[in-house]
Amino acid sequence: MSTTGIVVDRGLEGVVVGSTLLSNVEGKEGRLTYRGYDIDDLAPNACFEEVVHLLLYGRLPSAKQLDELRKELGAHRMLPEPLINAMERVPKDAWPMDVLRTIVSGLAIFVPVDAHGAHVSDVHTAIELIAKVPTAVAMWDRIRRGLEPIEPRHDLSQAANFLYMCRGTEPSDVAEDAMDTYLVLLADHSFNASTFSARVTASTKADLYAAVTSAIATLEGEAHGGAASAVGRVLLEVGKPERAEAYVREVLARGERIMGMGHREYKVRDPRARHLEAVAKKLSELHDPKWYKIARALEDASNLVLREKKPDKSIYANVDFYTAPLFYSLGFPGDEFTPIFACGRIAGWSAHVLEQLADNRLIRPQATYSGPPVHAFEPIERRTGNGAASHPSS
Ligand code: COA
Repeated sequence: MSTTGIVVDRGLEGVVVGSTLLSNVEGKEGRLTYRGYDIDDLAPNACFEEVVHLLLYGRLPSAKQLDELRKELGAHRMLPEPLINAMERVPKDAWPMDVLRTIVSGLAIFVPVDAHGAHVSDVHTAIELIAKVPTAVAMWDRIRRGLEPIEPRHDLSQAANFLYMCRGTEPSDVAEDAMDTYLVLLADHSFNASTFSARVTASTKADLYAAVTSAIATLEGEAHGGAASAVGRVLLEVGKPERAEAYVREVLARGERIMGMGHREYKVRDPRARHLEAVAKKLSELHDPKWYKIARALEDASNLVLREKKPDKSIYANVDFYTAPLFYSLGFPGDEFTPIFACGRIAGWSAHVLEQLADNRLIRPQATYSGPPVHAFEPIERRTGNGAASHPSS
């Protein structure tokens, strides 16, 4: 409640701020659908490119449409040369999300603008961005390790090309499938914070590049996509499954949160966690089972201790939880988990920006004012400098 008596919804919880045809989160049931298709059907049956088509064009593609989309994505993967050169000059210890945000913002510089400084923002611009974001992440993955960046291949899927560009060899079918499932599951999630941010930016009539740059900036924090990298740090800290319960108790005793647990919308286990757990488990059986085992023990321990300490809250594993063992098994360092999130969510961000622009009105909410009442301006010679005004009458 504010001083004016108006109820303020902190964090806009439960506030409906718009309408979308793109995806629906049913938090109580634990269901996520893209344009009416359940992710439980899409994750095992559709590839990321089919989901991109679904989000951008409103329907799943025919074989011919899928082929055309694949060709268009493949043709636009390469980054402008000056951006690759710029990445090569970045300090090797730069945070990968900072690099991604800067490179995506930089993409706009190489595209013509109209008289108002805006770029064309249409479905083809969206496809270009969907093609280029993974290239930026993969190139930085290599450059920071002192390796030559690898040129994208246009004959590979989004998932396979991304892994190929990071590793220099074509991925196994299991690795490609795991990456593809991840991209499908992360493609869209209604009005999450980064998507909302993209829509707010687009609502000012800014273009797709500006809106996606806003979205990447908003993805970074631990309350959103940054949790994926944070879970990676937790798995390292926990180190072995037997330490999971002690770790959870220590974190909660310090009044902190378990990363990868809890969600604003889902009051049951995030439906994406189940699919990610399955692919993380499958990968771990082929490689090192350690990461999956620690994650599994951590989820069990979190459920046990949270039920005990916060029995009235519904806090369960979210999408970021099993991202960590999945990506460790694929050989990625923890600080790249959040940029890889962007490789999937770029599909949803782009589709939301196009939806916003198609029926746009400036998004401009209000706030209640809780500062001091109107008072006299103090000339500089009468100011005390410590915040307390020295009034002439006093
Ligand atoms: N660990 C421990 N307690 C948690 C928790 C977690 N991961 N997530 C929520 N809670 C608790 C809060 O401490 C709070 O309890 P309190 O009322 O006793 O203080 C209560 O649940 C509500 O938290 P609140 O921050 O109001 O909920 P929210 O809807 O704003 O939070 C998240 C949603 C995602 C920000 C929150 O669950 C969180 O911080 N999770 C960890 C980070 C994460 O995984 N983020 C990725 C989300 S996809």
